[in-house]
Amino acid sequence: MRLDRFLSNRPQFNRQQVRLLLIEKRIQVDGQVICDPRHEIRAFSQVEFDGQILQAGKPARYFMLHKPPGCVSATQDAEHPTVIDLLDEPDKHDLHIAGRLDFNTSGLMLITNDGQWSRHVTQPETKMPKVYYVETEQEITDAYISKFREGVYFAFEDLTTQPAGLELLGPCSARLSIVEGRYHQVKRMFGFFNNKVVRLHRESIGPLVLDSLLAPGEYRALSEQEVVQFQPTPAS
Ligand code: URA
Repeated sequence: MRLDRFLSNRPQFNRQQVRLLLIEKRIQVDGQVICDPRHEIRAFSQVEFDGQILQAGKPARYFMLHKPPGCVSATQDAEHPTVIDLLDEPDKHDLHIAGRLDFNTSGLMLITNDGQWSRHVTQPETKMPKVYYVETEQEITDAYISKFREGVYFAFEDLTTQPAGLELLGPCSARLSIVEGRYHQVKRMFGFFNNKVVRLHRESIGPLVLDSLLAPGEYRALSEQEVVQFQPTPAS
C-alpha cells in the first residue's frame, strides 16, 4: 500500500495532514525519513511518526528446504506429513510455499511469509529457471532435446510449453531446465514420449542451488544475499 494511503487510513491523520507530515520529514520507514507519498508500505515495514511506532513490521522469513519424497507440498494435509511439518519454527501458519513439488518429487523448496517475494519467484512472467534431475523408465533420446526446445502442447491448458533445455546424462537420466511451473509439467513433457518419470529431484531455482549440506527433510534460513537475488527489480 502507498505510504500516503497507509497514513490517511489511520484515525489520527486526514489527507491534508498526511501531505504536511511527509513534507516536514516526520515520517520514517525502516529507519529512513520518507517524503515520497507513493513509497510502498508492506507488512514487513516499520513505520514511525516523530519516533512513535505506527506499525512495528513483522520480520520477513525465508527458508530453503530439502523436500524428501513422500511428503506433501501444502500447509495442511489429513493423511500425509507436509513440508511445513518439517519446520521447527514459531508462527508456522504465517508461512507458505513458493513453488510446489509433487508428493514423490524431492529437492529444493522455498518457504516464506513474504507473498510479494514468492509471487515474483513463481509467476510465469518472471521466467525463473528451475532445474530438475530426471530418471525415466525408458531411454531418453536426442529427439527429446529438440521437442522440449520447440515446446510440448498441453491440450488441457491449450498452450505450448516455453523452450526448455535438456542435457542427457545417461540412457535413462537427464537434467531439464524449465521456466514455468505447470501442473505435473516435467512428467507431462516426458509423457509426450510415453516415458514415465520414476525419479524427479529439483536441484535449483534461478540462482539458488539446493545446499548439499541439507539432508532430505532438513532446512535452513536463506541469507540476505540469497533473498535479494530474488527481489523484483523496479523494471520487472
Ligand atoms: N514437474 C512435475 O511433474 N512434478 C514436480 O514435482 C515438479 C515439476
